[in-house]
Amino acid sequence: MKKLQYTFSGKKTTCYFDADLSYLEKLVDKEHSVLITDDNIFKSHQKKFGGWNTIVIKAGEQYKVQDTVDSIFEQLIGFGADRKTFLIGVGGGVVTDITGYVASVFMRGLSFGFVPSSILAMVDASIGGKNGIDIGVYKNLVGTIRQPQFLLYDTSLLKTLPKEEWINGFAEIIKHAAIKDATLFKELEKNKLSFYQKDKAALTKLIRRNVVIKSDVVEKDEFEMGDRKLLNFGHTLGHAIENLYELPHGHAISIGMVVASLISEEYADFKDTGRVIEVLKRYGLPTLAEFDARKVMGVLKMDKKKEKDAIHYILLNRIGQAVVKTIPIVQLEKMILSIINSR
Ligand code: GLY
Repeated sequence: MKKLQYTFSGKKTTCYFDADLSYLEKLVDKEHSVLITDDNIFKSHQKKFGGWNTIVIKAGEQYKVQDTVDSIFEQLIGFGADRKTFLIGVGGGVVTDITGYVASVFMRGLSFGFVPSSILAMVDASIGGKNGIDIGVYKNLVGTIRQPQFLLYDTSLLKTLPKEEWINGFAEIIKHAAIKDATLFKELEKNKLSFYQKDKAALTKLIRRNVVIKSDVVEKDEFEMGDRKLLNFGHTLGHAIENLYELPHGHAISIGMVVASLISEEYADFKDTGRVIEVLKRYGLPTLAEFDARKVMGVLKMDKKKEKDAIHYILLNRIGQAVVKTIPIVQLEKMILSIINSR
């Protein structure tokens, strides 16, 4: 098993790669721990949960809401949880977000760890400490930043991951390459999804490389004062259309990345939108959608990256190098309208 360690806010987060879920017993005291998972993961991997206190939530982004949090609080009280109880989120991004959030606020804070079970959670959602819930169409509007003690990578959990979810996860992998790693971008342009699905070594290497990209950024800028903002490439518009149109996260940010690339051609020196579109298509992601730009702008105006009448938009100077540009909302609205009308 390979280990990587990061320091966030003076505390260490350890990533265990090539591990098995059963290794949890070595990391925590089983009696004083509670696993939180969703009904899909629980059904598919029931044996792995044997002997653990477990809370099972309903699967899906629509359950990343306060009602689910309240129900977890009640079940924790039922388990007799106290401030020493350790929480472990076993699942995709919804489970890790909600577990991190519950752990941040229950009894003013419990320790927690994650076993991410989807590509998206492995390379992105479980890393970085941001956690929270959605309020109506506003994604992640309420939450905290608090880091897990560990991330345990058990790729056998991916055996039951539907192809759609693999595709979703690759949107974040392509994003990492686009903003930080031109060599990885080239590798992705050469390979395809089935290659990584079949080749465990290549997949493990790819996951680790993405963990390193994201963790390095977060380690330097945990509270998003600078470089961490770049991780939002594709997410400003992406988040707005994700909940408005109930799109899968990867699909929404894929479209968001195409729009951000087109805006980059105007506001930065970018000339490779074609390559971005091609690589997204190569991994089965959509690159265009019809949406009501005015409705989308309405949601966008609530974006956390907004400041007064402008939005900090993440653009590309070139593949592997992203930049933050402050764009007045009025201009952004015009540009998004013209992008939609020209497609
Ligand atoms: N939980 C995802 C992040 O912190 O970016």
